Amino acid sequence: MNLNWLRHFPDLPATLPPETRPSDLARLELSLAFPGRDFSITLSPSLGDSFILDTIGATTILTGGETGLLYGAYALIRSHLSGSPLPAHLESAPQYPLRVINCWDNMDGSVERGYAGRSLFFEGGQFAYDPGRMRHLARLMASVGLNVLCVNNVNVHEPAQGLVAELLPELSALADLFRPFGVRLMVSVDFSMPLRDGLDTADPLSEAVQAWWQRTCARVYAEIPDLAGFLVKADSEGRPGPFAYGRSHADGANLLARALKPYDGALIWRCFVYNCRQDWRDPSTDRPKAAYETYQPLDGAFDDNVILQVKNGPYDFQVREPLSPLLLSLRHTHLALELQLAQEYTGQQIDLYAMAPMWREIFQDLPADRLQAIAAVSNLGRDENYFGHPLAAVNLYAFGLLAWSPRIDPAEVFDNWACLTYDFSAADRRTLVQLLLCSRSVYEKYTAPLGLCWMVNPGLHYGPNPSGYEYDLWGTYHRANRDAVGIDRTAEGTGYLLQYPAELQARYADPDTCPDTLKLFFHRLPYDYRMPDGRTLIQRIYDDHFAGAEEAAAMATVLKALPFPEPDAAVIADRAGRQVQNAENWRDVINTFFHRLSGIPDAQGRRIYD
Ligand code: GCU
Repeated sequence: MNLNWLRHFPDLPATLPPETRPSDLARLELSLAFPGRDFSITLSPSLGDSFILDTIGATTILTGGETGLLYGAYALIRSHLSGSPLPAHLESAPQYPLRVINCWDNMDGSVERGYAGRSLFFEGGQFAYDPGRMRHLARLMASVGLNVLCVNNVNVHEPAQGLVAELLPELSALADLFRPFGVRLMVSVDFSMPLRDGLDTADPLSEAVQAWWQRTCARVYAEIPDLAGFLVKADSEGRPGPFAYGRSHADGANLLARALKPYDGALIWRCFVYNCRQDWRDPSTDRPKAAYETYQPLDGAFDDNVILQVKNGPYDFQVREPLSPLLLSLRHTHLALELQLAQEYTGQQIDLYAMAPMWREIFQDLPADRLQAIAAVSNLGRDENYFGHPLAAVNLYAFGLLAWSPRIDPAEVFDNWACLTYDFSAADRRTLVQLLLCSRSVYEKYTAPLGLCWMVNPGLHYGPNPSGYEYDLWGTYHRANRDAVGIDRTAEGTGYLLQYPAELQARYADPDTCPDTLKLFFHRLPYDYRMPDGRTLIQRIYDDHFAGAEEAAAMATVLKALPFPEPDAAVIADRAGRQVQNAENWRDVINTFFHRLSGIPDAQGRRIYD
């Protein structure tokens, strides 16, 4: 059963010849989708992923590189099925050469922060996948231009270290399934792997270690010549890294990059580095400052096939964070933006949360050409619909289009996706698009409306727990007391704000003009502080949480009335009900927490539990 936007794509033959190339597949897709229509197709290898489309009368002329032809074919099919005509002449090139999905799949079959069932690739310490499904997944990715799949978790648990050793033939067999779709595999590797192989050090400056990585890469690329490269989480949340040897992250990244270089492999090095054993009593350390402090001094010290992968915000995929200052400050280093499709802090694929409006805000501050790649943590799993919540599919769809062209219009993308996915009337489709467009702000309103992060249940990261992380070691504090809440991150406070260019410093420095959604991220404010709309801070906390819960209930009512087909209808209705409960829970717990602390009553006398 095809439960997603591919559902009206004609079926491919049950097997494809193993040597099928993306350009062959493009011809096949077009012949299946448009029987009898005239196409003139020219392979122009130098165009790579890019394509040119011209429609002259009844003939469509498609010119593109090996993969460009495939993306051109999918653009045509998407436009045909969604009724959004393409211009008569279109030249299309992706903004980023690497458009990556990072799976956090473990080989025991679990998925770290997975909300759509178990791993699509692994079970019981082994590869365990349905080849037909892999091909379908590859087609799903290629249909929106995604071209790299990193299959294993950045936290590399055994036996995944064997992916570049004894499990290599199986990894290679998986790569064969994705190759016709222009999707290359990538693997997460563990920095300390040489130790597993009998070396007594993983020091990046050791010649034996350097030779070990060179041998490893030679073996890997002999099996998978088009592997996209390695992804590394080092010195982060307990993972091994170069700090253990007194070496810098440039030393560490360059070690692997040099071993990958002869094969054109990329070394993607994550910048999620901070002190995860902080003492909450110590106000001098401010976690959002950490990545900049680690990497800014190293700008320019990385080899040209190193890409530093930076999460969109300085914390960790909270519902609202300012842009990571590192993305704006590194000028001589290749960068990838890391987004998270898995809805870890954003409703866990129970609550509706469509991300494209948030990405649009990111790219308002981030010049698209500052990046060399874009990656997103996967929201995929073994559930029949891949995403748990059927509407969470829109996030993968939109991410593909964003990676191709960061200036996408969320409303247009949602409309196209809805058109491909459901046979709705124009009015129902508009309603669905409106729900998707407002889903982020509704979720934000009942969870963290004024930029206060981390009031979630520790570990789980779903549901409210205002003190859950407050006395913990993760550096995630709001420091609410009976008078005030938030952390002053201006020059007078922790100084985090100084990591930004002047224009953004000016936007955030003054609490009166700092956007409401980030006020308590940048400022510590008393409860009687007057917000720009004239209400006090405490009243806004109450009002926003009440409003968020009401809006979630209204959204659920509208959602349940839409004519989704089964099985989607039942799943969507069930999750909408759970979202309403979650929103009420957030409203009551957060409002009660602040009411108890401040002792200030709600001006509207609504029910707050004491
Ligand atoms: C978050 C998440 C972890 C993950 C980490 C990462 O902290 O909760 O599960 O390992 O991000 O990005 O590496």
